[in-house]
Order: sequence, then C-alpha cells, then structure tokens
Amino acid sequence: MDEIGRVLLTAEQIHDRIRELGASVSEDYRGIPFLVVGILKGAVVFLSDLVRHIDGQMEFDFIATSSYGRSMKTSGEVRILKDLEESIEGKHVLLVEDIIDTGLTLNYLVEVLKWRKPASLKICCFLDKPSRRLVPVQIDYCGFEIPEVFVIGYGLDYEGMYRNLPYVACLEDR
Ligand code: IMP
Ligand code: MG
Repeated sequence: MDEIGRVLLTAEQIHDRIRELGASVSEDYRGIPFLVVGILKGAVVFLSDLVRHIDGQMEFDFIATSSYGRSMKTSGEVRILKDLEESIEGKHVLLVEDIIDTGLTLNYLVEVLKWRKPASLKICCFLDKPSRRLVPVQIDYCGFEIPEVFVIGYGLDYEGMYRNLPYVACLEDR
C-alpha cells in the first residue's frame, strides 16, 4: 500500500459532487428514456454511484476499450475489447468514463458510436485532466478537473489495482 500517495478527493467530496451531477442529468433527461453506457472497467464505480442519484428511465450497457496496456503512458492506439450488447440506433446515449486524459479513447469511441446513429450522444466523465489533451472531446458533465498527476482509486487503477479505494489519491512515485 506504499503506492498510495496524497489524497486528492475524499469520499465525501466525491459523494457531494455526484449528487450534483445526478441532479443535472435527471433534469436534462426528464421524460426522456436513455441508455447509460459505461466504459469498462474504470467507470464502473462512478457509474454505480451516479445512477443512484439519477431520477429517470434508463438502461445500462457496457463497452471495454484498451489503449494503455498495463503501463502509465498511452500508446495512442484504441481497441474495442468488448462491444455493446444492443443497438444504440435512435437511442439517447450517455457515455460514462472514469477519466479523460489525452482524449484519444473518448474521441475514438464517439466517432464509432456516432456511426451507429444514436438519437443523441452525451459524455459524462468523473475526472478531467485538460492539460494532457491531444485531441478535443466535448464533455457534457464532468465531476472534477484535476492537474497532471496519475491518480488511483474510485475505479481508477495502476496495473489493475486500487480500483476499490473509496477516494482518489495520487500514485506515489517510487
Ligand atoms: P485517454 O485516452 O488518454 O483520454 O485515456 C483515458 C484512459 O486512460 C482512462 O479511461 C483510464 O483508463 C486511463 N488513465 C488516464 N489517466 C489515468 C490516471 O491518472 N489514473 C488511472 N488511469 C488513467
Ligand atoms: Mg478507462
């Protein structure tokens, strides 16, 4: 556990912000059934807390991408490892991601999903690292903007570990 560094966001800060995000999403989709698409695996923790603060009619689906392998740097190459189970044609889609860093993952996924003709496509991310952006991403809902540090916890991993932390911490440099 010596890899867990400074706490950036406490469980309480996260909870308070998610309550606000849930209220915004509920308001924007009032009377409109929608599909929440979670990006595995990182978005699972955020998504499961977020949806419990949304008052509305929704379904879930999941998609998995890979770009980082097991390292901390992006290779720039995005692959779909697990696709959605159902067609999104004509559906209002809310794409939920853990963190937007270079933007390569989301930029690619948005292109792919737009080809499938959803009625609308919005993006909700837990964290945003805007300083690292290589390609533009239009974010509709964002939990927190964070500086250029590698973070773990609340769904975010380092080499597959630490997703279960209830807070967000910096990865300790060794
Ligand atoms: P992007 O394609 O560079 O925007 O990368 C997005 C993906 O990289 C996220 O879904 C995460 O899986 C991973 N990632 C980026 N920054 C971090 C971080 O600080 N901690 C853990 N994972 C990260
Ligand atoms: Mg991810």
